[in-house]
Amino acid sequence: MDDASLFRTAADTLAGEGWCVLNGLLTAAQTRALADECAALYAARRLAPARVGATHMATELRGDRTQWFDPAAPSGPQQAFLTRIDALRRALNRELMLGLVESEAHYAVYAPGARYARHLDRLRDDDARVLSAVFYLNEGWQEADGGALRLYRGDGTHRDILPHAGTLLLFLSARFEHEVLPATRDRLSIPCWMRQRSPDRAV
Ligand code: OGA
Ligand code: MN
Repeated sequence: MDDASLFRTAADTLAGEGWCVLNGLLTAAQTRALADECAALYAARRLAPARVGATHMATELRGDRTQWFDPAAPSGPQQAFLTRIDALRRALNRELMLGLVESEAHYAVYAPGARYARHLDRLRDDDARVLSAVFYLNEGWQEADGGALRLYRGDGTHRDILPHAGTLLLFLSARFEHEVLPATRDRLSIPCWMRQRSPDRAV
């Protein structure tokens, strides 16, 4: 599918449902380069335990380790990712007038058994995050490996999205609570947020 149709389909589904799954944003080679880099950083213990909330307390609610992309000095694989996310962001702005001005992204690794309890991505006192985008890096993921992203819909139902390499999950940050279920193997992802200019926030 060409970019125009890929992005239009995403915009239409987002406008209707508030969330969508998009495949084909990055090539298999670009996805593998990100997976290799994330795995190497993790093996070198360069990812740090994630923190929850304004007090930055580590809790058992969240068991992943993360490393933020440095927008001033992204690696080659990260640059490729950010370029494609930016193209998507601009297309969504055109189609949906979302006013998304920037993106932030980090690597995340969940070791076997680690989870992230049900939560909303909007931070308290900060409405900058409009759209959550989670890109997955795991080749050969099986349903029996667990590790689904469970997305709770307003009607009380939920959908489970498996973290297959190349899958991008998009959802409105303010609207969908979600959780990461524990897996039986290392689970690699790039959570990313497209942000609006936030009047409440000193820039
Ligand atoms: C998050 C998150 C989901 C995932 O980092 O806020 O919900 O699948 N991550 O990595
Ligand atoms: Mn989240």
